[in-house]
Amino acid sequence: MITLRDYEKSDTARLVLLANNKNVSKYLVDTFPYPYTQQDADWWIETGAKVNNAVNKVIQYNGDFVGSVGITPQTGMKKHVAEIGYWIAEEYWGRGITTEALRLMTDYATSYLKYKKLFAPVFEPNKASMRVLEKCGYKLEGILKYEVFKDGKYFDIYHYATYCF
Ligand SMILES: CC(C)(COP(=O)(O)OP(=O)(O)OC[C@H]1O[C@@H](n2cnc3c(N)ncnc32)[C@H](O)[C@@H]1OP(=O)(O)O)[C@@H](O)C(=O)NCCC(=O)NCCS
Repeated sequence: MITLRDYEKSDTARLVLLANNKNVSKYLVDTFPYPYTQQDADWWIETGAKVNNAVNKVIQYNGDFVGSVGITPQTGMKKHVAEIGYWIAEEYWGRGITTEALRLMTDYATSYLKYKKLFAPVFEPNKASMRVLEKCGYKLEGILKYEVFKDGKYFDIYHYATYCF
């Protein structure tokens, strides 16, 4: 059973345990560092998870914290749009957990928070993430060439989105 809940201060130790893994951070933004320290987890739970009015939730699998999914609202002419992102601890990969969590968050963001468009930028090698998005009804809108630079390499970004009109 997959559920979403808000972060709590007591999540810090487990967050470090799950997040301190290069295979998890490899295709994530720089605010998800490696190594992932206690200080990083404290910052995330106290501040980072709420920066720019973001809404970030813990993904629970049978009651255990196994990952995270969140949205970051855009501004100005794009205030109907939010970016969506997610990760799950490596030992839980391949069980359909992210697919279900992304479905729940997409529904929450469109039905309850009333966003009209959600998008996800995916590093070109991250085929599992593209598959998760496709299973949740997201479509590839375009490919942004050499869009990001991480760990000494340039990556194309596959820009996925879903709409609620
Ligand atoms: C990407 C990630 C979120 C996937 O989570 P998950 O819980 O394993 O995803 P699911 O089990 O719901 O679905 C994975 C799908 O990808 C497929 N898949 C896995 N590896 C694949 C690969 N190399 N190529 C193509 N498809 C692949 C699986 O077969 C499955 O599809 P299926 O149900 O049709 O068989 C997880 O690996 C992760 O957290 N990675 C690190 C963080 C990250 O990259 N986040 C996304 C940033 S955009």
